[in-house]
Amino acid sequence: MTLRVAVIGMGPIGNRHAKLYNQNDLAELVGVCDIIEDRANKASKTHGVPAFYDAQTMIDDLKPDVVSITTAGTENGGDHYEPTMQALSAGCHVLGEKPISNNTEEGDEMVAKAKEMGVYYGINLNHRFTPAARLAKQWVDDGRLGHLLFVNMAMWIGNPNESSPFYHIQALHPHTIDVMRYFCGDIDAVHCFAVKAPGREIWSTAQFNLRFTNGVVGSLTGSYDIERGHPMERCEVAGTGGRFVLEDMWREVTLYPADSLQKTVYTDPLFGGFHNFESTFRERIGTFLQQVTDGVPHDEIDGNASEGLAAQKVLAGAIESIRTGEVVYLNR
Ligand SMILES: NC(=O)c1ccc[n+]([C@@H]2O[C@H](COP(=O)([O-])OP(=O)(O)OC[C@H]3O[C@@H](n4cnc5c(N)ncnc54)[C@H](O)[C@@H]3O)[C@@H](O)[C@H]2O)c1
Repeated sequence: MTLRVAVIGMGPIGNRHAKLYNQNDLAELVGVCDIIEDRANKASKTHGVPAFYDAQTMIDDLKPDVVSITTAGTENGGDHYEPTMQALSAGCHVLGEKPISNNTEEGDEMVAKAKEMGVYYGINLNHRFTPAARLAKQWVDDGRLGHLLFVNMAMWIGNPNESSPFYHIQALHPHTIDVMRYFCGDIDAVHCFAVKAPGREIWSTAQFNLRFTNGVVGSLTGSYDIERGHPMERCEVAGTGGRFVLEDMWREVTLYPADSLQKTVYTDPLFGGFHNFESTFRERIGTFLQQVTDGVPHDEIDGNASEGLAAQKVLAGAIESIRTGEVVYLNR
């Protein structure tokens, strides 16, 4: 049985969700909504489904099984709360864009509402939804890295938006923190230094120092000051048994075993490979639809909202650290 899906927030990302639902056999796109009528109407024409200008009206009229929340707002997450609560309260499964919210109390409420309603709630943590990242995760789970010791992560893109002092932290790093948590588990302490690049008013480049619950130590370098085009993301994880380096989410991952000079390299294939960033969305949306269809336990779906919220709490700690200069312990 196909899942009837609606999308709320028809900017570039909402249009991408709608397109990918239309291409997926597990889904039937039934409606699109934006408070900006022109955006809703354009999306309606593009995707061949009715336009709505009010989320509650669309939810009441269409009673979709699944709703994508692709609004943005302050720090790219300020507008998610209201339509997410509307969709969850109506018993819809929700796939929300990152960040889950720029406000962790609202994030707590949204996660609690999904639990109360017994529905699926996932976040588009698409950077880990690649064959290369899954293979690296398998290496970790199979013990190929031995006892985990450290992780070094970096991500940089050019983004001139100056909308809030912590925009770079809140909007970019849900991805990087999630990738680090995917491989190394929960984070219990964070410290962050940040800098404003020449001509900028916001903390546009930052260096995070992290400690994980299992004792792993980690660092994260992030920047909104370097244009993409060249590689933009790198994750290195090491343990007593070896080390891997994952380049650009899907392009290549290399395992360097501690006891051998022969390394294992996975390269994205020319035919049938990922090719571009949109593939990460296709894979993430496809996984969500498959897991909902298969009835996977709610808290076991990949990239669930609790994981999105945990990443956001680390970022809230990093912001506190930038303000105070202190290490922030997250579980005290
Ligand atoms: N996963 C990724 O790799 C990735 C990449 C880029 C952006 N994003 C995320 O995608 C989201 C959307 O980004 P965008 O660039 O398309 O944003 P955008 O601002 O262009 O579009 C958001 C739209 O939502 C509409 N909207 C806001 N509140 C609404 C409501 N209550 N009901 C109906 N419509 C409403 C706005 O009018 C706007 O048209 C952001 O949260 C951003 O962080 C994710």
